[in-house]
Amino acid sequence: MRLMLAVRQRVCSSIRSIHRTNLFLSGDYEMQDPKSEEEVVNITYVLRDGTEKRIRGKIGDNVMYLAHRHGIELEGACEASLACSTCHVYVDEPFVNRLKNPVEEEEDMLDMAPALQPNSRLSCQIILSKELEGIKVTLPKITRNFYCDGHVPKPH
Ligand code: FES
Repeated sequence: MRLMLAVRQRVCSSIRSIHRTNLFLSGDYEMQDPKSEEEVVNITYVLRDGTEKRIRGKIGDNVMYLAHRHGIELEGACEASLACSTCHVYVDEPFVNRLKNPVEEEEDMLDMAPALQPNSRLSCQIILSKELEGIKVTLPKITRNFYCDGHVPKPH
């Protein structure tokens, strides 16, 4: 219990720091449409109710910010700074092995994600490339809200 409180305090402190310094600096790239077909990378999000939402992304898009653009309920409490697990997704088998191995900080945050699976990743650390054409990610049924005040964010 004491460990969880310490972790929560650290996360809240990080979030406050991030919000002071990086607010609105991320996610702008994902707001832009692909400029050509060569840039397009299709991605499917499987929502919590099981429905699939297919999106035309592009090379370089961050999977979490792309979800926000399209109104998909994928949180991102720490704005991709590896201080939470609220952007947790499951990556479909053929694609999970094409991703770079998670850095230690991502693994630490995944350890705190509920309903962890072998194909769990943090979506804010997945950047679309042509190698990921057709990638499918599934939102877990539950997530842990890390906002300090219980706030539930709306997609950006
Ligand atoms: S948004 Fe916090 S780690 Fe991805």
